[in-house]
Amino acid sequence: VIRSVLRGCGSYLPKRIMSNEDMTEIVDTSDDWIVERTGIRQRHVAHADEKTSDLAINAAKRALEMAGIDGDELDLIVVATATPDETFPATATTVQAALGMTKGFAFDLQAVCSGFVYALATADNFIKAGQVKRALVIGAETFTRILDYEDRTTCVLFGDGAGAVVLEAAEGAGEASDQGILSSHLHSDGRFHDMLYVDGGPSSTGTSGHVRMKGREVFRHAVVNLAAVVEEVLQAVGLESSAIDWLVPHQANRRILDGTAKKLNLSAEKVIVTVDRHANTSAASIPLALDEAVRDGRVKRGDLLLLEAMGGGFTWGACLLRW
Ligand code: ACO
Repeated sequence: VIRSVLRGCGSYLPKRIMSNEDMTEIVDTSDDWIVERTGIRQRHVAHADEKTSDLAINAAKRALEMAGIDGDELDLIVVATATPDETFPATATTVQAALGMTKGFAFDLQAVCSGFVYALATADNFIKAGQVKRALVIGAETFTRILDYEDRTTCVLFGDGAGAVVLEAAEGAGEASDQGILSSHLHSDGRFHDMLYVDGGPSSTGTSGHVRMKGREVFRHAVVNLAAVVEEVLQAVGLESSAIDWLVPHQANRRILDGTAKKLNLSAEKVIVTVDRHANTSAASIPLALDEAVRDGRVKRGDLLLLEAMGGGFTWGACLLRW
């Protein structure tokens, strides 16, 4: 049996911070409304000349450093993003060049807020198939570039950032038996396009468009779908929720996080929360949260982690892994 073991993680946030107070100068909103409905207090915003690839490269370098692996030792890079630098080539190939990786292959993956879970599952399958030995999985977004700053119902919710993990194939007894990625479960249902989408693109309007969302509907579906998929992943590996050391959820909204934790009967201390400082960074939110908790010593080697996310499409998924 081949397992994908996690060798390291890294993350990067743009320096510029916008507080809720700053948002009140742009749209008719308040710190109280945003905090009460979402738990968000501030968000990081990329500088005008900072691209998604720049954020991704910074996060990647930190992850490679922790893993003790050079860029040219990688076989695969997957970048999960809904905000690529350009329509093509993939942002992943820009990252590949910057890391000095000239063999193997690199591609982008699009599942919006579920992107990191999708990318992790994809890289894991290449490793389990024996086609890849070392993979870099990145979630990176400059989501603030696709916000409509005249729409207060969406523009207060999102931020920019990137996070990354390094996976390596482990084989045989010992490490491979109970380490790394244990099970991943992905879902989508395209009937819900209109609930959360961007009203533009190269083949429709020729512009990059802006985020459109029916927030209340998204919230309702998120709670139901996330509860189902975390149940599914636990059942697949035959574990009870009490075995989970850390819930590392996609950071959309404090109330969604609390709802999932409650369903799992997990105490608040076992949930990694960054939404207060990062807001929703889409595909970047899970690896950003993971990196914070690994580096501050909460997540330790051998801990059981449950990752889950839900996003536009709808897409949703969960992944159970041992750090
Ligand atoms: N400031 C002040 N008032 C606002 C703002 C704002 N920024 N935005 C909306 N309002 C107003 C509305 O206009 C509305 O006013 P009205 O009653 O006079 O019409 C009122 O607040 C309530 O609006 P609702 O949309 O019903 O508010 P709700 O309690 O549903 O909260 C929110 C909205 C925070 C978007 C919530 O629905 C939510 O979190 N949904 C999940 C969406 C999400 O997280 N999406 C991220 C991508 S998908 C994912 O990652 C899961």
